[in-house]
Amino acid sequence: MIKYYYLIISALLLIGIVSCSKNGDKTESKVEVKSGDELTAKGKELFNTPSNLTGLKCADCHYDGTNKDNLNTKYFADVIGADKRQSVFAGTIKGEDVKSTASGTTVCWETFVKMGRQISPQEISAFSSYFASLKGDSKNLNYTTIALPKPDKLRLKEDQTKIAGLTPDIKNGERIFKETCGFCHGGRTVKHVPSLFEDFDGNLKSIVYHIRMGAKFMPFYPYEIISDQEIADISEYILKNQKK
Ligand code: HEC
Ligand code: HEC
Repeated sequence: MIKYYYLIISALLLIGIVSCSKNGDKTESKVEVKSGDELTAKGKELFNTPSNLTGLKCADCHYDGTNKDNLNTKYFADVIGADKRQSVFAGTIKGEDVKSTASGTTVCWETFVKMGRQISPQEISAFSSYFASLKGDSKNLNYTTIALPKPDKLRLKEDQTKIAGLTPDIKNGERIFKETCGFCHGGRTVKHVPSLFEDFDGNLKSIVYHIRMGAKFMPFYPYEIISDQEIADISEYILKNQKK
């Protein structure tokens, strides 16, 4: 007898699941197909929408032809023409994946901006459509990083030793810090960022590590963007300004 109950219950459950997924399909097909212009406008809007979790938005890091005043964008790839690139993220995303990730946007959405929800297929198309609409020159993207495809700890160690032996230029360190690091570590609009001047018991090694590898939503910086000498300069600026 009990067996029959099980059978009936399983059958009912199955019917439930099937009808639910059918409903799901129905709502899916109701999503309107947007025109090219609407998609582009949506992409532009998303590019400028800050995350509730971090306060960061795409326009805080990437130049799209309109935000030159934000010096932080000098340190990251331009998104102008990003849809036409053969590979992005130091070659770790290539081929068909360039399109399906909107040239790596999906990585930034999750890792750096931390939108706190999954990006939808339509939002991915909106970003690609926005990138395709942008006019102007795009800076050279060839760079080398030890953060990708997986952290190169050996090379990091070598760099830490080398950088410790360089003679720093504190003025240059201050400039770079204010242009990019201070965007997050300066206590401005970005949330959940540790101060590097109070309660920082780090050292040169930790600074090199964070710049080259990134951490949480702190981005990594390739060699061509911040050189070893410049890391020495920035470190001097941070370590000489500790509040004790
Ligand atoms: C905190 C800074 C930061 C934010 C905010 C950010 N990104 Fe990125 N983005 C990076 C870094 C770091 C890389 C990899 C290094 C590079 O390409 O400069 C990258 C790479 C990319 C690339 C690939 C560039 C290429 O051709 O290799 C695209 C496209 C991109 N981001 C789009 C976006 C979009 C769209 C958003 C908003 C959803 C966004 N990013 C938010 C830091 C950021
Ligand atoms: C997009 C925001 C952002 C930018 C830009 C940024 N950082 Fe960070 N940084 C963070 C976050 C978030 C953390 C915390 C990471 C964690 O908890 O693992 C962090 C952590 C650090 C730490 C470790 C702090 C500690 O208490 O141990 C150092 C050192 C550091 N950053 C240095 C830098 C330097 C130098 C630059 C500029 C070259 C920079 N950061 C640019 C967001 C940022």
